[in-house]
Amino acid sequence: MKHKPVLLDEVISSLNIKPNGIYVDLTLGGGGHSLEILKRLSNDGFLYGFDQDQYAINIAKENLKGFNNFKIFKSNFKNMKKILNNEGVTKVDGVLLDLGLSSFQIDDPSRGFSYMHDALLDMRMDSDSNLTAKDLINTLTAEELERIFRIYGEEKNSYKIAREIVKRRPLNTTFDLVEITDLFPTKGHSAKRVFQALRIYLNKEIEVLEETLPQAISMLNKDGVIAVISFHSLEDRIVKNYFKELAEEKVIKGLPTLPQEMPMRYGEKKSYKPTKKEIAENSRSASAILRTLIKN
Ligand SMILES: C[S@@+](CC[C@H](N)C(=O)[O-])C[C@H]1O[C@@H](n2cnc3c(N)ncnc32)[C@H](O)[C@@H]1O
Repeated sequence: MKHKPVLLDEVISSLNIKPNGIYVDLTLGGGGHSLEILKRLSNDGFLYGFDQDQYAINIAKENLKGFNNFKIFKSNFKNMKKILNNEGVTKVDGVLLDLGLSSFQIDDPSRGFSYMHDALLDMRMDSDSNLTAKDLINTLTAEELERIFRIYGEEKNSYKIAREIVKRRPLNTTFDLVEITDLFPTKGHSAKRVFQALRIYLNKEIEVLEETLPQAISMLNKDGVIAVISFHSLEDRIVKNYFKELAEEKVIKGLPTLPQEMPMRYGEKKSYKPTKKEIAENSRSASAILRTLIKN
């Protein structure tokens, strides 16, 4: 399925794009947000795009082919500062993070992200990396698996599921795992929570987000904007708390003296959620939340 960019109008208006500015899309995906950024840039403006998935990059290149003022890096976004500094870029006017996966990644059965398709338990966002979800499921202890399902999936039956996995090993496919989660029904969908947990843990999604936010903020020019779209509460909590610390607290953790002024400020709103209309048109937007901050 083609990926529909989420909260597109809200992202574009929050970024307050300067035609000659430098923008960084750290989660290029199909290039939906990048395309709208490029449309607003002059020939002197420039966009840098990052994605760790070559398949996403190929789709984005096709979608952005009408433009030439952009450059794409196949990399984890945690390397943004190093890579941009190597390009001679030390300051930028806007950074976008639209976390998670694109529809075409979720819907591709061969990637093993979806509990709705039977496939090998893969779940790697970067297919050049070695470790798969199948490796985790078949080698971690019940205690380790329980912890992953509880912390990253907030799954109530995490221990029962983990124990059943260890009993039935080896597991190979997504449906092998769904058979187990279906044994322990709770409110909502256990398979969804367990799959989310494995994906987050395997791809170190929380750690890379925590590593990247300070880098992105440190690279912003005055009045530069960071915009982050999260799709679950674990990610959003990190973004919300970090933004709060930068825009609200009197003392910033780790800084010895009180700053003259807070380093960042909120825009018009602290957060944005999709409208009913957007959710009706794109059900995957339902859990999205956008937070933005502006550099003082
Ligand atoms: C939700 S999609 C972005 C969709 C895009 N904004 C659009 O409108 O087409 C997220 C993308 O970020 C990529 N991604 C997720 N985590 C990443 C990371 N740590 N480093 C680089 N890319 C990442 C995924 O491969 C995916 O293509």
